[in-house]
Amino acid sequence: MYNQTVMDHFENPRNVGEIPDASGVGEVGNITCGDILRVYIKVNEGKLEDVKYMTFGCGAAVASGSMMTELAKGKTIDEAMEITNNSVAEALNGLPPQKKHCSNLAADALHKAIEDWQKKSADKE
Ligand code: FES
Ligand code: FES
Repeated sequence: MYNQTVMDHFENPRNVGEIPDASGVGEVGNITCGDILRVYIKVNEGKLEDVKYMTFGCGAAVASGSMMTELAKGKTIDEAMEITNNSVAEALNGLPPQKKHCSNLAADALHKAIEDWQKKSADKE
């Protein structure tokens, strides 16, 4: 059902874990199935110096999270906000249609983590 790129990211997911002193954290859940994906970002001089994620989701969610971290790492905040659910799915060379919604968790959680960081930086000023 899954292509090789997806399988690779599922079997060897990149950047799994937490960032203890994260600049921002974002979590997205799917109420229907209860699956969750959480993203941690470390921001340095306007760039995503580090991105990590954890998920209690299926293979598609694991692979999407992994690919999202690879797309996001090293990007500026603006560039990272432009990463969409679709660009994650495309970078994975496509996902089975019934698994598309799982990949939506990754980019959404990334954007939430960025919003969390923006809020925290605003609070400091
Ligand atoms: Fe729940 Fe994919 S994340 S089935
Ligand atoms: Fe829950 Fe796919 S079934 S995100």
